[in-house]
Amino acid sequence: MHKASFFAVEGVDGSGKSGMVAGIVAHLADSGAPAIATREPGGTPQGEKIRSLLLSGADHAWDQQSELLMMTAARVEHVRRIILPTLERGISVVSDRYVGSTIAYQGAGRGMSESYIRHLHKEAVGDVWPDLVVILDLDPEIGLARSRQRLSAGAIDEGRFETLDLDFHRRIRQSFLDQAAKTPARHVVIDALGTPDEVRARAIDAIEMWRAARK
Ligand code: TYD
Repeated sequence: MHKASFFAVEGVDGSGKSGMVAGIVAHLADSGAPAIATREPGGTPQGEKIRSLLLSGADHAWDQQSELLMMTAARVEHVRRIILPTLERGISVVSDRYVGSTIAYQGAGRGMSESYIRHLHKEAVGDVWPDLVVILDLDPEIGLARSRQRLSAGAIDEGRFETLDLDFHRRIRQSFLDQAAKTPARHVVIDALGTPDEVRARAIDAIEMWRAARK
């Protein structure tokens, strides 16, 4: 039996994470490793409530401290109710975003201290880190154009973080690259420019190399 693994998919808005999560889950299942797809903020009824509080409505609806604590609260529920119990059953978990997004958005984006965010994570959530983080790397200008198109087509009221300026999103992209450079064994950076099929193939190749190296 394959050992269950915890994967997180990270990237700027509009980098194609949700399709990628589904693609990784399908690939793992095909290779005999059952997996579930989940997301943050969200993944539990409690977390989904926090998600709608955070992501609908105007920007600056919350103080940045409140925003950080709410993201973390959603993660506590997610880790305790979904992520750890699923891994314990031998089923892999693929999460659309995890604490890497908090380091990028609340840290590099909003300017909060990264050491504070990491400390809060350890205290609140525990030392639970993904086995592998797949970073979909994309110029945020392209990502923002993609997600604006999607938000207006679907009339989804989740535009909050997309409304922040381009510099904010450039800091997010750089933070993901910095996180990968800091712990390369736990990250792969995938060029997210291309068709969804092309980008998925790149990610799956990288995951297979990582799995082979781990055996
Ligand atoms: P997501 O649904 O992934 O948005 P998109 O599909 O448009 O990329 O994530 C929602 C937003 O929440 C996204 O803009 C990033 C933000 N976010 C944080 O700021 N901090 C966090 O810890 C997480 C998990 C998400």
